[in-house]
Amino acid sequence: MVYQRDAVEALPAYVQGKSIPNAVKLSSNENPYPPLDSVVEVVRERAASISLYPDMSAHDVVERIAARWQVRPSEIAVGAGSVEVAAQLITASAGSGDEVMFAWRSFEAYPILVQVAGATPVPVPLTADDRHDLEAMLAAITDRTRLVFVCTPNNPTGAIVTRDEMERFLERVPSSVLVVIDEAYAHFDDAEDSVDGLDFFRRCDNVVVLHTFSKAYGLAGLRIGYAIAPERIAANLRRVAVPFGVSALAQAAAIASLDAEDELQERIDVIRAERARVLAGLRDRGWQVFDSLGNFVWLRTGASTTEVDGILRENGVVARAFAGDGIRVTIGSPEMNDRFLAALDGVPASV
Ligand SMILES: Cc1ncc(COP(=O)(O)O)c(C=O)c1O
Repeated sequence: MVYQRDAVEALPAYVQGKSIPNAVKLSSNENPYPPLDSVVEVVRERAASISLYPDMSAHDVVERIAARWQVRPSEIAVGAGSVEVAAQLITASAGSGDEVMFAWRSFEAYPILVQVAGATPVPVPLTADDRHDLEAMLAAITDRTRLVFVCTPNNPTGAIVTRDEMERFLERVPSSVLVVIDEAYAHFDDAEDSVDGLDFFRRCDNVVVLHTFSKAYGLAGLRIGYAIAPERIAANLRRVAVPFGVSALAQAAAIASLDAEDELQERIDVIRAERARVLAGLRDRGWQVFDSLGNFVWLRTGASTTEVDGILRENGVVARAFAGDGIRVTIGSPEMNDRFLAALDGVPASV
């Protein structure tokens, strides 16, 4: 038989949120809005050039991102979605025998990417209120720890890490360990005491911030995300990146989206207001849900997860269920959210 790495054959497949005809898809934390006209226009214009390779250095979008955050272009590394940049970070930092830590439950790609790299995943359980347990994470650091992901707001629980918590954490993390603050959902986070990854990036040599255009900017289908990283690390991310991984369309759409941030902010505001309405609707129905600062809510359904997920599906709502644990439901349009809440009418709250 042809040789394949055991570590790869043992991997669980990444589960994509499913689509079912006539059902509302609230399973992938996508933006419920169509792309902005100005963005579609740019993509249309660029479509004529898809017979050519994109600019591998992504020069224009890197310059634009750098200007947006007032950092140097050499501190930006792009990838085909921030998930690819997360993979680059792991490849650049950890190999066989090295440890990569993350809270659990968190973004389900982390353990998969770590195993693909041949490194050892170190999941550290969340606190009882579904937050990062940074004390436990500190205690779990060994001399083989190379990288720690901190996802805030956390996918799927929606909990944030506060500025003070991060301050205390970074004071004690060894300077040889890279701390990646994954801010995929930061645009939806309006808590006053939330960590601002960029602030820590400016102050610490071992902090990287991960951003995506997939969520608030609504470009999930085009695949572009980026790291803001110290120069040496950003250069290494470019070394390990898949060549030409970010299409010219994605690069152009990202620039157009940064040019349209005001318009996008209006949509973000609506999603935040809807999130508050959905959380209130859940509490009215007897569900004990923690505040979520992402564009999703988290139902702690535990042992009833599969049953509740089945009821949602019967009622035309596709969410992301993690058997035995909980169900993450993306905040959609007001109509989609109504459908979700209505689906729970008459369902006994699991917790
Ligand atoms: C926490 C987190 N980070 C990163 C990503 C990756 O997003 P993308 O690769 O589309 O940029 C996701 C997507 O769901 C996510 O939830």
